[in-house]
Amino acid sequence: QLNNRLAHKIKTRYQEYKKRKNKCVRIHLLFMSILCMSYSLSFQFWSELHLPIFLHHWNTTTTPSYPEAPLNSVVSPAETDPRIQEIMKKLDQLIPPRPFPHVNTTTSAAHSRVTVLSPRDTYCIGEHLDLLLEVKDYLGRRKEYGGDFLRARMSSPALKAGASGEVTDFNNGTYLVRFTLFWEGQVSLSLLLIHPSEGVSALWRARNQGYDRVIFTGQFANGTSRVLSECGLTLNTSAELCQYLDTRDQEAFYCVKPQHMPCRALTYMTTSNREISYLTLKEKSLFYR
Ligand SMILES: *[C@@H]1O[C@H](CO)[C@@H](O)[C@H](O)[C@H]1NC(C)=O
Ligand SMILES: *[C@@H]1O[C@H](CO)[C@@H](O)[C@H](O)[C@H]1NC(C)=O
Ligand SMILES: *[C@@H]1O[C@H](CO)[C@@H](O)[C@H](O)[C@H]1NC(C)=O
Ligand SMILES: *[C@@H]1O[C@H](CO)[C@@H](O)[C@H](O)[C@H]1NC(C)=O
Ligand SMILES: *[C@@H]1O[C@H](CO)[C@@H](O)[C@H](O)[C@H]1NC(C)=O
Repeated sequence: QLNNRLAHKIKTRYQEYKKRKNKCVRIHLLFMSILCMSYSLSFQFWSELHLPIFLHHWNTTTTPSYPEAPLNSVVSPAETDPRIQEIMKKLDQLIPPRPFPHVNTTTSAAHSRVTVLSPRDTYCIGEHLDLLLEVKDYLGRRKEYGGDFLRARMSSPALKAGASGEVTDFNNGTYLVRFTLFWEGQVSLSLLLIHPSEGVSALWRARNQGYDRVIFTGQFANGTSRVLSECGLTLNTSAELCQYLDTRDQEAFYCVKPQHMPCRALTYMTTSNREISYLTLKEKSLFYR
């Protein structure tokens, strides 16, 4: 009997689902634009970031800092290094250098054009809505490569519904933006140019240039005494170092070992930023909002 009831319930649900699925709806494209703003700028944010890191549960050197990682997942650097290099190589290929003579040759949201591919009055739930984006520079010339950082969103605020669009980069200055229509009613679409490809490329280069932008300061506590010490991913010093190794991925973090303190006395860490930048003035101008 129970089984019958369950079967009936499932059948009813399925019919409801089918009914809903077959329902075709009118989708109003309220708002479609490509804008250059959005986003409070991460640069600004970083320079004010002050991040306390608590290390009370850190067990130095012998165990992974991720307790959920099973111990048998420990891998050797010989295994991970080639894999990491391969991933970095792929990323480098994905984000090649994009030198530009002037900002007016970089991607301009205002000059770019977005069109609905085979527009219709009515779409059914589950169907796709495809947009074609053709990017241009500030002089109105077509861009011949991709790599722009785009963000595609579809939303119906009244329904508290939202979804991302899928962006396909053809690497020739055109992008396909595909939205799956998950719900019924009016939707707003937005397509934002977060950073032009030239900016993405500059950020990638700068990111790979050094680790010395962030200053890590570790606090060692031994009894009642507290000592501050310099820490980081790489330390250019001949002083004795404490190594904090994540055995899961073999990545190490170091602190200059304070005198009369064991390495495990590290309890707290703060970060601050150094006033250096690996971006040129021209590159920086891509990020002003
Ligand atoms: C550190 O880990 C070892 C091995 O798991 C354990 O015996 C020891 O008690 C731990 N120490 C602290 C301070 O948690
Ligand atoms: C691009 O901007 C530079 C600097 O303002 C200017 O010299 C150059 O003429 C501009 N290029 C075009 C094609 O307008
Ligand atoms: C860009 O690439 C796509 C996919 O290969 C192609 O269909 C399209 O015609 C190309 N557009 C231009 C302007 O070259
Ligand atoms: C501080 O560390 C030193 C060296 O590891 C140790 O000999 C000493 O007992 C520690 N002092 C306290 C108060 O824990
Ligand atoms: C390391 O420090 C020495 C001495 O201060 C300096 O000459 C050298 O350039 C530094 N190396 C790096 C990679 O920063």
